[in-house]
Amino acid sequence: MDVMRAANAREHARGDVIHLEVGQPSTAAPAGVLAAAERALRTDKLGYTDSFGIPPLRRRIAQHYRAWYGIDVPESRVMATMGSSGAFLLAFTAAFDAGDRVALVEPGYPCYKNILSALGIEAVPLPGSAATRFQPTVELLEKYGGRLDGLIVASPSNPTGTMLAPDELAALAAYCRARGIRLVSDEIYHGITYGGVAQATAAAIDPGVIVINSFSKYFSMTGWRLGWMLVPEDLLRPMECLAQNFFISPPAISQHAALAAFECRDELEANVARYARNRAHLLAELPKAGFDRLAPSDGAFYIYAEIGHLTNDSQDFCRRMLDETGIATTPGVDFDRGRGSTTLRISFAGAEAEMVEATRRLMAWRR
Ligand SMILES: Cc1ncc(COP(=O)(O)O)c(C=O)c1O
Repeated sequence: MDVMRAANAREHARGDVIHLEVGQPSTAAPAGVLAAAERALRTDKLGYTDSFGIPPLRRRIAQHYRAWYGIDVPESRVMATMGSSGAFLLAFTAAFDAGDRVALVEPGYPCYKNILSALGIEAVPLPGSAATRFQPTVELLEKYGGRLDGLIVASPSNPTGTMLAPDELAALAAYCRARGIRLVSDEIYHGITYGGVAQATAAAIDPGVIVINSFSKYFSMTGWRLGWMLVPEDLLRPMECLAQNFFISPPAISQHAALAAFECRDELEANVARYARNRAHLLAELPKAGFDRLAPSDGAFYIYAEIGHLTNDSQDFCRRMLDETGIATTPGVDFDRGRGSTTLRISFAGAEAEMVEATRRLMAWRR
């Protein structure tokens, strides 16, 4: 947020900022979604909906699991939520109690930890590294976990973009199941992958896993605030009560519009193809500017760079980069309080021309 504020101030003053700090698609929702929203405005009352979401959307999401992963998920377990953020709040509240201990890998998406701590739940950090592709492993759980009540995984991950291979996800799920540890699988970047690692949903492994996804990233609908969750049978009633009290329902217009999102594959795949070209450009060019210690970036639209040879203060480094080149990036401290002082995250969700200009400026800066 600090970087964004500084970037926006410079943009206002000089109009030359390249936004590699953003965590969202640079595109609007697909045309079919916009048309469905217009239709809903004209034809629907857009009142509260069922707290689990409108039945056609729940049915369509269940179909999506059949189409993408070849698995049957009962519609009754599909819950539409206020973005995946709303789903985290519901899931953590329903599945854990104050004082519980929930493991997550660092670097990771900071809101998991912040929501857990707001609920009085202890976040137990697992030190991810290049050796584990910045993902949790059974060995890390054994070494750093202690007595655990939960584990959160994200594949592809924010900030690293790294993924868990299907057998690695299955090993973590088996470990959790055997010990009564509730697994929460954040699959919000599914659909944005580059072929190196197969995309696996935890829903195919164990119906006791809380699977969380969203229309924000692949479907390019961040501001519509709509996500979904696959709720294990034993949590259906608690989730319903909590959702009713926290939110009443997710936004009606977004639900009607999102129904059309699944039919917009061509537009959405064109976005992914652009991300892939941006990624290839950055992976080829960043090392020439001295950024040569890069996480694998299997998916999402991020590259996580180790910059310990350039600085020991990533916040200062990002500030200087913004001041001297107009390029905004995110310092690693957002994702890893300890070791993030020597890392930064680069987002390639923007336009191809911006990536080309960014590497040109970086090379000139580092020369
Ligand atoms: C890993 C991850 N999970 C969840 C979210 C929250 O997304 P939303 O609430 O828009 O679904 C983000 C947003 O950047 C994210 O990176």
